[in-house]
Amino acid sequence: ELGAYPFYMLKEIDEQPVVLRRLLSNYTDADGQVNMPEELLAAMQQADRLYFVAAGTSYHASLVAAPLFEQLAGVPVTVAFASEFGYHMPLLSKKPLFVFLTQSGETADIRQVLVKVKALGLPSLTITNVPTSTLAREADFALSLHAGPEIAVASTKAYTAQVATCALLAQALGIYLNNDAAKQFDVAHKLTMIATAQQQLVDEKDQIHEFAQKMFKTTRNAFYIGRGSDYYLSLEAALKLKEISYIQAEGFAAGELKHGTIALIEENTPVVAIVSDPVTAAHTRANATEVQARGAAVMRIATESLAQPGDELVVPDTDPLLTPLVTIVPCQLLAYYASLDRGYDVDRPRNLAKSVTVE
Ligand code: M6R
Repeated sequence: ELGAYPFYMLKEIDEQPVVLRRLLSNYTDADGQVNMPEELLAAMQQADRLYFVAAGTSYHASLVAAPLFEQLAGVPVTVAFASEFGYHMPLLSKKPLFVFLTQSGETADIRQVLVKVKALGLPSLTITNVPTSTLAREADFALSLHAGPEIAVASTKAYTAQVATCALLAQALGIYLNNDAAKQFDVAHKLTMIATAQQQLVDEKDQIHEFAQKMFKTTRNAFYIGRGSDYYLSLEAALKLKEISYIQAEGFAAGELKHGTIALIEENTPVVAIVSDPVTAAHTRANATEVQARGAAVMRIATESLAQPGDELVVPDTDPLLTPLVTIVPCQLLAYYASLDRGYDVDRPRNLAKSVTVE
C-alpha cells in the first residue's frame, strides 16, 4: 500500500489533489452545480445557528468552515471543542443544528455530545471519512469525506477534505436559501483550481525540505502566526509540527503576539507568518517584522497577489475563505520533514492513537 513512500503521512499529503477532485465528482454535476441531499438542506434551512463540535485537526477544520457558512449561507456558527461542549454547554439558540466533523467517526468526546443532543431532540449531521462509523450511524444525517483510509496519526487529507466538503455544503445551502453571495461563489471552479495549486506545492517538496532544515533542525519551539483564516491555519500547522516532531509549537493570532507571547522570541526562534488575507496582510507583515527585529528566524508564506520580494514561499492565489486548503500543504510538509530529519516514526508519534475512543 505504501508503494515507494517511506511513510503514510507523505503519501496522504500527496493524495490531497486527488481527494479534492474525487469530492468534486461526488458532490457536483457536470455543469458545476453542487448536489447535497435535499432533506439535509431542508433541515439546515430550519436552523438559526449551526454548532460545530469537534476535536484536534477536525476542530481546526471547523474553524475554517464557520465563515464559509456565515458568508455563503448567512447562518451564524458556533465552533466548540467536543471535550468542553458536552459538560459546559452554552445557552443554545432556539433552533440549533449540530455538525460533527470527525475523520474517524469514533471520537468519544463527540459521541458524548451527540448522546446529549439526541436526548434534547435536536438535529445532527456527521461529516466523516468512515461512513460506517458510530457517529455516522447515530446522527440524523451523514456526509462522507471520500478521502480514502487515513493511516498516519497526523491527519492531513482528512483536514482538506473536511474544509472542501464544508465549502460545497455551505454553497449548496446558500443557493437553497437563495443567497446572492452563494450564487456568485463558484465553488466547483475554485476547488478545481485549488487541486492544481496543491499539486504544484507537493511537487515543491525539496524546497520545503530545505526550509524545514533551516528552521527546525535544532529548535525546541516554534510559532505560526496569521489573522482570520491564516490564524486558524496557524493552529493546524502548529498541531502538525508538535504532534510528530515534538517541537513545542504555537499557532497565534498575529495581533495577539504583542500582548504577551512576543516575550518568548529569542535569537533564531522560528516564526512562520502566513499572509493570504488582503485585508490584514500589512498588519501580519508588520508583526513578522517586529519578531524579526527581536532575532526571530522568519519564514513568510504569502499568496501570489500579496507576495513581496524576499518572501520565502509564494503559493497560488485562491479565495481568502479557502486559502487554508493551499497554505496547509507546505505546513504539513514542514512538519513531516522536521519529524523525518529528527529520526522519528512519522506515522506513529508517541502517546497518540489514530482514533481517540476514551473521554
Ligand atoms: O477522528 P477525529 O477527526 O474525530 O479525530 C480528532 C482528533 O483526535 C484528531 O484530529 C487528532 O487531533 C489528529 N492526531 C491530528 O492530526
